[in-house]
Amino acid sequence: MSKLIFEKSAPGSNAFDLPPCDVPEQPINIPARFLRDTEPVLPDVSEVEAVRHFVGLSHRAYGVDDGLYPLGSCTMKYNPKINEWAARLPGFACIHPYQPEETVQGALEIMYETGRMLSEITGMDQFTLQPAAGAHGELTGVMIIKAYHNHRGDYNRTKMMVPDSAHGTNPASSNVVGYEVIEIKSNSRGLVDLEDLKAHMGPDIAGLMLTNPNTLGLFEEDIKEIAAIVHEGGGLLYYDGANLNGIMGVTRPGDMGFDIVHSNLHKTFSTPHGGGGPGSGPVGVKEYLAGYLPCPLVAKKDDRYYWDYDRPLSIGRVKAFNGNFGVIVKAYTYMKALGGKGIKEACEQAVLNANYLRCRLQPTYEVPFNRICKHEFVATNKNQHQHGVATLDIAKRLMDFGYHPPTVYFPLIVHEALMIEPTETESRERLDDFAEALLTIAREAENEPDTVKTAPHTTVIKRVDEVTAARKPVLKWEGQ
Ligand SMILES: Cc1ncc(COP(=O)(O)O)c(C=O)c1O
Repeated sequence: MSKLIFEKSAPGSNAFDLPPCDVPEQPINIPARFLRDTEPVLPDVSEVEAVRHFVGLSHRAYGVDDGLYPLGSCTMKYNPKINEWAARLPGFACIHPYQPEETVQGALEIMYETGRMLSEITGMDQFTLQPAAGAHGELTGVMIIKAYHNHRGDYNRTKMMVPDSAHGTNPASSNVVGYEVIEIKSNSRGLVDLEDLKAHMGPDIAGLMLTNPNTLGLFEEDIKEIAAIVHEGGGLLYYDGANLNGIMGVTRPGDMGFDIVHSNLHKTFSTPHGGGGPGSGPVGVKEYLAGYLPCPLVAKKDDRYYWDYDRPLSIGRVKAFNGNFGVIVKAYTYMKALGGKGIKEACEQAVLNANYLRCRLQPTYEVPFNRICKHEFVATNKNQHQHGVATLDIAKRLMDFGYHPPTVYFPLIVHEALMIEPTETESRERLDDFAEALLTIAREAENEPDTVKTAPHTTVIKRVDEVTAARKPVLKWEGQ
């Protein structure tokens, strides 16, 4: 194990060289209780040591630029470098959110056009680009649902329906807005159980949060009927856009009957995800809900773009300034580079890749809902379990083959789930390599299960106690 940067510290080896201060020193107006009374403990390292430290850390990380990243429900597609080029253009990178409108017309145009393209792709009428992630978009969308019912004087709708296959952020967002969460069962085909939905729909229900394709990668075939049940009961239909990559350019949530959607630009629209973020979760609505969208919205009049603050029904601001602008530029660049035809092709290729892998891996790995899927599918360890090998072991062993593991233990309705989403940016050859790795692990599980159960063997950090790592993380250097 190489030394930590603190352990490499050698007093006096700092190499920074700041120019003399050319502005008068100002008195510090921070209350004394917020000021530290000792110097911060920072390592003393030279420039080259600092560079080596960060480059070393980057080598330990794994990203889409390293290889296939099959993290189901996350759409870890390649982030085209042209996106980064566009976001770094000084005209975008160096502007300030408080600049006068007439000096940022280009930036406002990008935001306006991004909203317009998202509207076209999702079948909505108007978008806000403020939310900073999918979960933040959900929160915004559910606040809009509440504002809508309240505005109509319908205060009795205190519950939100969420399928048992949903991502945890759906019930969490509903709960934060004050709704009681009602879980709707899935049927034996992995789809929303219509009878259970009908049984729960009533005058106390604010709406239903749904993703389509769902978290099993399956298209909700009864979506029109689902929408009718919710609407006839006076509720609204919320679309969790995490799985938009499985339908974009082919069908639209707005045409299925959804009233509100969020879209994760960091998934479907190729901007960096996770630690590579920040993210962006724009929210789109049908025209009759547009008044409730966060304030301000970018608007256009006679070829001039401006911030529209005259929105009395708005739920207010959900983020400082106007969203993660750099992310929006990247997603805009992606949509423009692909065009309508390219967006459809990307979706079709994502679906083809997922089905190709599903067919190659099954029957070695059990696929509980083994039929045509959209952009992802869920397998399990059922066939490996008899050798004492858990899904977690398979995921850990994949790291020895140079892959980031798929999503595991989600969705919760599948025991020991292994959720695989290859995305459209993998070639047939790379999909074959990945399938071979998983088939090799299945053979190992049968013949030498301990190799799998004690993996990973080749990583810097071996198997960690994940509960302790999550509950009692050591986040800073505590000294010797
Ligand atoms: C189905 C689903 N919904 C919502 C989210 C939340 O999105 P975000 O991570 O951008 O907050 C995710 C994230 O993985 C997801 O998979």
